[in-house]
Amino acid sequence: MLARLRRRSELDRVIAPEIKDDAFYESIIRVASMPGLSHILEIGASSGTGSTEAFVAGIGMQPEAPTLHCLEVSEPRYRALVERYRDIPFVRCYHASSVALSDFPSVDEVASAWRAGDPPLRTQLRWLRQDIDYITEHDVPQSAIDSIKEEFAIDSFDVVLIDGSEFTGTAELAQVYGARFLLLDDIRTFKNRANYERLSDDPGYRLMASDPHLRHGFAVFCRASEPI
Ligand SMILES: C[S@@+](CC[C@H](N)C(=O)[O-])C[C@H]1O[C@@H](n2cnc3c(N)ncnc32)[C@H](O)[C@@H]1O
Repeated sequence: MLARLRRRSELDRVIAPEIKDDAFYESIIRVASMPGLSHILEIGASSGTGSTEAFVAGIGMQPEAPTLHCLEVSEPRYRALVERYRDIPFVRCYHASSVALSDFPSVDEVASAWRAGDPPLRTQLRWLRQDIDYITEHDVPQSAIDSIKEEFAIDSFDVVLIDGSEFTGTAELAQVYGARFLLLDDIRTFKNRANYERLSDDPGYRLMASDPHLRHGFAVFCRASEPI
């Protein structure tokens, strides 16, 4: 049988870590080392040398390790991730999309959210097409957040990092709202701009750490009831 023809995609490459040895990396270690965590969700693990490494370092300070669920859509990055953490039992890696293709925004939604200072709209729409094509052409399993919640009977994750596709942050937050800690990368781009505004306006959440000028900005929120 002929293999299905696949376009070359930027998602076919392993890339350098993004959250690495900076204030966000330190915040991730701090949150992951808090007592009483059971399930941590990392959306956008890449090959595991950035935010995953910080989570693993923080969890390593705990007497009882929570489970770290790592989602990664790119096949080569997922393979490198699995290889790196194969001997760490609390790390579970998923080659899957956090949400379903139907949760991606339309071209019109991306266009109307575009602001001066963002990457050119033409570039953003190329990335949108690329993310959708990759999931379709590689038959990547979808709706991983829902599947993990169901498999582990999770009502609310303890910690969630939203750092996956540029276009799915809003859909992801809707599925994890209520988590004790919500960590957002890229709060000045489409990925997490609206999420940052939503959480900032919610008296049920408190901003623990943020720097809008570190790369595209990050923020760490905790539920207002957290005793920290
Ligand atoms: C900005 S990078 C993550 C960087 C990583 N957190 C670090 O610290 O190096 C975003 C990652 O999300 C992955 N991704 C894209 N769409 C996704 C989706 N729908 N579900 C899960 N991961 C996705 C990409 O393949 C990419 O590796």
